[in-house]
Amino acid sequence: MERTNNKLQHKPNSTVIYFTCTLMLFLLPSCMVIYIAMSAHQSQCNNLVTVSMTTTNKIQELQESYASLQAEYKRLTLEFSSNILDINSEVGKLEKDIIRNETKTTPRRWIDNWDKLANHRPSVKRVLYLVRHGDYNVNSDHMLTSLGHTQANITGQWLKRRERKYAIQFKRLISSTYHRCVQTSEHILKYFPTLSNLTDQMLIEGWAIPPRTNLDTFPKWEEYPYKADKKRLDLAFQKYFHRAEQNELSDVHEIIVAHSNMLRYLIMRALQFPVDIWSRVSIIHAAISVLTITPDGYVLLESLGDNTHIPIHLQSS
Ligand SMILES: *[C@@H]1O[C@H](CO)[C@@H](O)[C@H](O)[C@H]1NC(C)=O
Ligand SMILES: *[C@@H]1O[C@H](CO)[C@@H](O)[C@H](O)[C@H]1NC(C)=O
Ligand SMILES: *[C@@H]1O[C@H](CO)[C@@H](O)[C@H](O)[C@H]1NC(C)=O
Repeated sequence: MERTNNKLQHKPNSTVIYFTCTLMLFLLPSCMVIYIAMSAHQSQCNNLVTVSMTTTNKIQELQESYASLQAEYKRLTLEFSSNILDINSEVGKLEKDIIRNETKTTPRRWIDNWDKLANHRPSVKRVLYLVRHGDYNVNSDHMLTSLGHTQANITGQWLKRRERKYAIQFKRLISSTYHRCVQTSEHILKYFPTLSNLTDQMLIEGWAIPPRTNLDTFPKWEEYPYKADKKRLDLAFQKYFHRAEQNELSDVHEIIVAHSNMLRYLIMRALQFPVDIWSRVSIIHAAISVLTITPDGYVLLESLGDNTHIPIHLQSS
């Protein structure tokens, strides 16, 4: 019984071992697989953490540099706009200065009675055709060159077309006594054989005032008799630049043939511009400026140094 019991006792033990071993045989590889899988996962996790940390760092870095770029951009913008402000205020100061200085010498209001004829109001207007002489020999006899003759001829033709187109009648032609102007006038008068003509010494070339410029091409006050020229040209202005006479029944059209510098001065004066800006206007050879003076004494500049009637290849200055 005891043996049987022993036997009986022994049997379950071996079964347990058998099962345990079998279990172990399955469990061990499984555990190993699980362990390997888990450690792989772990290292993947670690990798992910590392990657994610690196990314976070990168983002942070980028954010920082973005912020610093923004700050730099803001600083530069401010610097730029403050520079612009500086420039503007400099320009503003200069402009104010110029306007203040100008109002001291030049009234900004239009002066109606500039020709002292406001109380003799005519019923018609006066139109001046201010012609510059043609190209001439500057270094020899001061006579027109052959180009100058051609230019003067073309300007005569233009005046004739003008007369026809607007059915106007020129009243007279007044010329500077200088040869180049007389010669230019002769070309014009070919087209107006009956037009009364005269020459006037008061219309010769001259500089009335040193121009406001940075260029050194004009003589200084003490180097040129500006005052004498101004006196003469102001008298010429009084004589030829004024509204029509009260007894005139139709618009008065007059041709004046003269010179670039003095014409520029006279035109600036007629417009009541500061006269020392005359050098900023250009009047090439045989160019025409048309200026109308209304019965009210208002001055309208139709064209200033117009040269479009002269073909480009025949232009000169
Ligand atoms: C304005 O006049 C003053 C004094 O006459 C002069 O110092 C200044 O340079 C003038 N300014 C300009 C812009 O012409
Ligand atoms: C003026 O121009 C016309 C037309 O081109 C021409 O017939 C005439 O010969 C010219 N006169 C002079 C003097 O150049
Ligand atoms: C200018 O007019 C006078 C008459 O006063 C005349 O003799 C002369 O020929 C005219 N000049 C020209 C260029 O036509």
